[in-house]
Amino acid sequence: MSFPSTRMRRLRRTPVLRSLVQETSLHTHDLVYPLFVCPGEKVRNPVASMPGVFQLSIDELLVECEKTVAAGIPAVLLFGIPEHKDEDGQVGCDPEGIVQRAVRVIKKHFTELCVITDVCNCEYTTHGHCGPIDTGDVDNDRTLEILSRQAVSHAEAGVDMVAPSDMMDGRVQAIRKGLDNAGYQMLPLLSYAAKFASSFYGPFRDAAGSAPSFGDRRSYQMDPANGTEALREVQLDIKEGADIVMVKPALAYLDIVSRVKERFGIPVAAYNVSGEYAMVKAAAEKGWIDERKVVLESLLAMRRAGADIIVTYHALDAARWLEY
Ligand code: PBG
Repeated sequence: MSFPSTRMRRLRRTPVLRSLVQETSLHTHDLVYPLFVCPGEKVRNPVASMPGVFQLSIDELLVECEKTVAAGIPAVLLFGIPEHKDEDGQVGCDPEGIVQRAVRVIKKHFTELCVITDVCNCEYTTHGHCGPIDTGDVDNDRTLEILSRQAVSHAEAGVDMVAPSDMMDGRVQAIRKGLDNAGYQMLPLLSYAAKFASSFYGPFRDAAGSAPSFGDRRSYQMDPANGTEALREVQLDIKEGADIVMVKPALAYLDIVSRVKERFGIPVAAYNVSGEYAMVKAAAEKGWIDERKVVLESLLAMRRAGADIIVTYHALDAARWLEY
């Protein structure tokens, strides 16, 4: 059947008709809010390239968690900015480290909030790479052992889910094994399974103080040109025990989100990264776009592509906008 018996506009005529045939929805309960925790008290350092995002000391972090819970957002993703760094990133495993302390305090005050921690060494190494360096490159297998201990230390602090973001081979298996051996068989693992070596992470590295001091991350993060390889990465992580897989960045990689969801049917997360956030904020500040509409459209598009969960710095704003 075609025109004139078929008229696509019939179902677009009124808001009520449009809502009846809407295929995808966006809810506050799909969102995860990333937060950066740093040492000190009453610290609320604005991140210049990410308006509305701050490095927060634990007391201020609690204020942000309170807003998160009040907004109905189910989860936060924590990144730590430690007092000291070392060559290998061992400080990330310290039971008294910044993230471990933050987790304990958040869980004490907000038992219902799902606390997820980023598990990676790049915030904890002096050189900003994701593990110890051996002859100019990250030593994969030595990194695994450190990551596994970092994850266990987060588990001991009471975290609800761990999210390894380093892209070392075998890390999901190593972390799963570490957690299981320590008695945390039921702790879910969200793996940054298809993480691309992207220039969209620029502002994050200011926020987390994790820019590599030499070279780049192309020897471990994926080539933006590769989609089929992303499926292999996801498949390996599922085999190694990932419960949720993440694609990162989101907007320029929605084809990957869609292929992963279709192929594996596992819960998929998309990370709406710092550069995507910064671009929207900058254009909105200039009055060139309608921030609210652009953000909600982008998040909805991630859902349409197949993302069950969206990690986004817009979470608090989006939750407010979704209310009205
Ligand atoms: C740490 C990590 C990064 C991001 C999340 N975890 C940075 C990187 O890989 O360089 C980026 C998040 C963002 O840009 O918002 N490995």
